[in-house]
Formats: sequence, C-alpha cells, structure tokens
Amino acid sequence: MLKAGLIGLGFMGRGHLDNYIRLESEGFPVKLVAICDIDEEKFENKFLSGNIDVGNAQYDFSKYRLYTDIDDMLEKEELDIVDIALPTYLHAEVSVKALNKGINVLCEKPMALTVEECRKMIEAAEKNNRKLMVAQCLRFWPEYEYLKECVETKRFGDVLSGYFFRGGSTPKWSYQNWLLKKEKSGGVILDQHIHDVDMINWLFGTPEAVSSIAKNVIPGSGYDIVSTRYIYDDGKVITAEDDWVLNGDFGFDMIFRVNFEKGNMVFEKGVLKVNPNDGKSFTPDLPKDDGYYREIKYFINALLNNNDIEVASPYSTMETIRIARAEIQSADNDGEYIKL
Ligand SMILES: NC(=O)c1ccc[n+]([C@@H]2O[C@H](COP(=O)([O-])OP(=O)(O)OC[C@H]3O[C@@H](n4cnc5c(N)ncnc54)[C@H](O)[C@@H]3O)[C@@H](O)[C@H]2O)c1
Repeated sequence: MLKAGLIGLGFMGRGHLDNYIRLESEGFPVKLVAICDIDEEKFENKFLSGNIDVGNAQYDFSKYRLYTDIDDMLEKEELDIVDIALPTYLHAEVSVKALNKGINVLCEKPMALTVEECRKMIEAAEKNNRKLMVAQCLRFWPEYEYLKECVETKRFGDVLSGYFFRGGSTPKWSYQNWLLKKEKSGGVILDQHIHDVDMINWLFGTPEAVSSIAKNVIPGSGYDIVSTRYIYDDGKVITAEDDWVLNGDFGFDMIFRVNFEKGNMVFEKGVLKVNPNDGKSFTPDLPKDDGYYREIKYFINALLNNNDIEVASPYSTMETIRIARAEIQSADNDGEYIKL
C-alpha cells in the first residue's frame, strides 16, 4: 500500500482528492493519509468553483492528517508519494524539497515557470533516485490518446494539418488570485495553452520554430489570448489557440481538428468524430475515465512496478516549457519566428 500526501486543496487539488477517494474505494493499493493547504478554510469545505467540472463534493476531512505547513507535513509523515496541486510558482521548490526527502512526486502542470526550474526538479529526482511526473492530463485523455495512436500508426496516413483550441471563462477562483498574475502563473500561455503546447510536443516533437501573437486584456495577467503557428520541416500546418476571456455563457471547451491524408477527426464539446475520406464517420469506443483519474493511476502503477515514466517523462514536459517560453518570447516581439 502506497501512502500519499496531497499539497494544495484548491480547484485542482480537489479533483485529485476525488480520484484518491475513488482509487481507494476500488481497492487500488494507494491511501491518501495527509493533506496540506495553507488556507485552513479549505478543511471546512469552503471552496470557490472552477471552470471545469473536477468535482465539488463536501469531504470528510477527519480521515486525513491535516497540515497548513508543507515542511511540517514532509517532516512528520512517511510518504511514498507527494501530489502537488499548488500554484505554479511553488512547483519547483516544493517538488525539489519532497524529492530530497526521498519521496516520489506527481506535480500538476505546468512543470514550472522556467526551463531552469524544470532542470532542478529533474536533477533532484535523479540524485535521489525517485520518480517525478508532471500531470499533463491530456496525454492520458482517451480522445487525445486515440489521436496519438493515429499519428504514430499512420492509420489515416500522414498529418496534413492540426488545429488545437482551449479556452473559456476567466479563472477567478485562485488563491490570492495567483492565476491572473503574470509572474506567478505565466499567464494563459503557461497555464492553460500549455496543454496544447504539450500535446503538440507529444504528437509531433519539438517544432523548428514558433510564431505567436498574443493579447493582454486583464491588467497584470500577462497574455490572456494567444495564437501560435508551429513550424515543422515536413510542412504540416499546425496551429493552437487559447482564450481565457471568453466570458458570458461560453463555459469552457477543448477542441482539436486534425486532418490526415485519408481522413480527419474533430474533438469538440467532449465528442470525438472521425471522418474517413472514403467511408462513414464514427465515434470510436474509448475508455470512459478522464485523464485526471488515468494519470494518477498511471503514476502509481509506475511506482508499484518500478516502470519508467514514459508517457509524460520529465524531460519531455520540460521541453514543453521550453516551447511555451519561446511562444512568450515571440509574442513579446510581435510574432517573430523563434527557432527552437
Ligand atoms: N490539469 C488541469 O486541467 C488543471 C486545471 C486547473 C489547474 N491546474 C493546475 O493545478 C495547480 C493548482 O491550480 P488551482 O486552480 O487548483 O489553484 P487554486 O488557487 O485553486 O489552488 C491552490 C491551492 O494551494 C494552496 N496554497 C497556496 N500556497 C500554499 C502553500 N504555501 N502551502 C500550502 N498550500 C498552499 C491554496 O490555499 C489553494 O487551496 C496549478 O499548477 C494549475 O496550473 C491544472
């Protein structure tokens, strides 16, 4: 039985909590024993809701040892796993601390704010011979997994083009509003668009260059809207966009439309439709669980079986940060092509 400690019980931390509760109820050999959050009110079930449904249950916190100080928790608990759902500016510091205590780390995306911080996280994992995984949940999302499989197997031939979108209402729930502070979250590019940057990196590898235009709308938040072209030497046309000032009734959506030589596929409003050029369109039969559940299960299975973290290796998620930083540099320079 692996013992886990969860740090950060905000919007995403509660999503992780739901999955530990579920895994335990399914008899999976993991037990969440401790939770840490600086804000004691979280332990009284006082939450702000987010823009995607990760669960808004009321919890029985008497089952866990509760902490408001990270060092205190790491000192007193004997943990196999620390699950970090903290604001991004704390990812590197807390991951390194936990790894140096000999604890395996599952850290929320984005890995960190800079490539240097990512490197420190990897060094700490390697020095202490512990596993580190960044929760890039789309790599575990059934529809995106299906897309990856089609790209790799060339089931519909080579990719001609791809468009990726993510966006919705402005995230207003965060601790001290860190999400809307450029220096704490990296703005929409590092916080939200990073999912599609990571997907493009995972599907196609590092592009030759990127060119981004982006716009600030909310004072102090960095960029709130971005549109990026990813240049590949085979000429496929890859674009990704994000906009987190789509307010009113928009809600939230994540979308992709990928065109292959022999067909195309569109994922929108939670439904994937595959349109072969010569044949009837269909919706593939895919696992029903979401990427949040599946990523945690994957990480724990890797620990139980001592497998390498292959699906979201820390080197690959660090490369995602390098690409996203190049996008910010490009946007700062009116869309200049930045070579990678
Ligand atoms: N995978 C996804 O789809 C997804 C979605 C949303 C957020 N996230 C990521 O999850 C992470 C957390 O985001 P969020 O939206 O949950 O933010 P949030 O502000 O809702 O939650 C952060 C929590 O950390 C706590 N905290 C802050 N400083 C602390 C400290 N020093 N010690 C202990 N606790 C502290 C806060 O009280 C808060 O409860 C971010 O990295 C974000 O990018 C991922």
